[in-house]
Amino acid sequence: MANKMETIGVLTSGGDAPGMNAAIRAVVRTAIARGLKVKGIKKGYMGLLNEEIIDMQPKSVSDIIQRGGTVLGTARCLEFKTPEGQKRGAEICRRHGIDGMVVIGGDGSYRGAQALSRNGIHTIGLPGTIELDIACTDYTIGFDTAVNTAMEAIDKVKDTSSSHERCSIIEVMGRHAGYIALWCGIANGAEDILIPERYNFNEQDIINNIIENRKKGKTHHLIINAEGIGHSASMARRIEAATGIETRATILGYMQRGGSPTAKDRVYASMMGAKAVDILIEGKTNRVVGYRGGQYVDIDIEEALNMTKDISDYECEVARLLSL
Ligand code: ADP
Ligand code: F6P
Repeated sequence: MANKMETIGVLTSGGDAPGMNAAIRAVVRTAIARGLKVKGIKKGYMGLLNEEIIDMQPKSVSDIIQRGGTVLGTARCLEFKTPEGQKRGAEICRRHGIDGMVVIGGDGSYRGAQALSRNGIHTIGLPGTIELDIACTDYTIGFDTAVNTAMEAIDKVKDTSSSHERCSIIEVMGRHAGYIALWCGIANGAEDILIPERYNFNEQDIINNIIENRKKGKTHHLIINAEGIGHSASMARRIEAATGIETRATILGYMQRGGSPTAKDRVYASMMGAKAVDILIEGKTNRVVGYRGGQYVDIDIEEALNMTKDISDYECEVARLLSL
C-alpha cells in the first residue's frame, strides 16, 4: 500500500563521489515531476541535526550534472550514530514535513538510513562511493570517474618512469577494497597490481618479477598499490635497495574523489536517483537502490549490508597474464 508521500528530503553523506550531483538532480526533478516537494539537507546527517534544510526547485539543480563533488555538501556525524541523535533527526524531518528521505553515500550512511527508517521516516539509500565496495550492487556512483582520473594520471607517470627506466609504485584509493587498483592495473598495463583481497605481503615476489622483467628488456616496471595495503614510499625504498633500480612512489590521493563525472556515472546516478523516488512513492522504505544483472533494483538495507562480494578471480588472472 503506497503511503501518501508529499515531501522528500535528499542528502549526501560520507566520502563524496563524482556523480552525486547527477543523483541529487534526478531526485529533485523526478520528485517534482511526480507532484512532490523536495528539501535538500546540507552536509549529510550533521546538517540534518543542525536543520540546514533548503527548499529545492527544478532550477536548484540546473547546471550541476557535470560538476564533481556534491552541491549539498557532505560530512561525517558521530551524533547520528547514537539512538538519541537518530530520534532527533527523525523528529526534525517530521517538523519540516519530510515524509521520505534519499541518502546518497556508502554503507556507513546506510546504517543512518536504517535508523531513520526505524524512526518512521521512509528512507532509501543510493550507492554513492568511488570504491565499488558495496556488495548489493554491480556499480557504485563515482567509480568510473575515479578510475578514469587515476588512469590518466598513471599514464603520465608511466612516461617519466620509462624515460628514467625506473620502477614506479602508484597508490590509488579504494579504502579496504582493490577494485580501483585492479581496474587501473589492467587499464594502464601494470606489471604488478597489489590489492588487499589477494596480496600475500611477500615483497620478494615483486623484486624477483622486477629483476626478471629487466632481464627481458622491459625498461620500466609499474606497480599499482591499493591504499588498503599502502606504505608505498617505504616499499619503494626497499625495492630500490634490493634491485638497484631507481624506484619512486606516487600517492594519487584526493584527485580520485573529484572531477567532472563521466557519462557512465551521470547516467547511473540519474537512473538510480529516479528509482529511489519511485520506490518511495510505492511506499517502500529501508531499501538500497542498486544495479544488478543489467537492471536497477532495490534491496532491503539489512540484507544489503550482510551481503559480501569478492574481486573476480578471472580479472586477477587476466591482469597477471597481460602483464607478462
Ligand atoms: P560512507 O557512507 O561513505 O561509508 P561513513 O562510514 O563515514 O561513510 O558514514 C557516513 C556517516 O553515516 C557517518 O558520519 C554517520 O553520520 C553515519 N553513520 C555511519 N555509521 C552509522 C551507524 N552505524 N549508525 C548510524 N549512522 C551511521
Ligand atoms: O571512502 C572513500 C575514501 O576516499 C577512501 O578511499 C579514503 O581512504 C577515504 O575516503 C578518505 O576519507 P576522508 O575524505 O574522510 O579523508
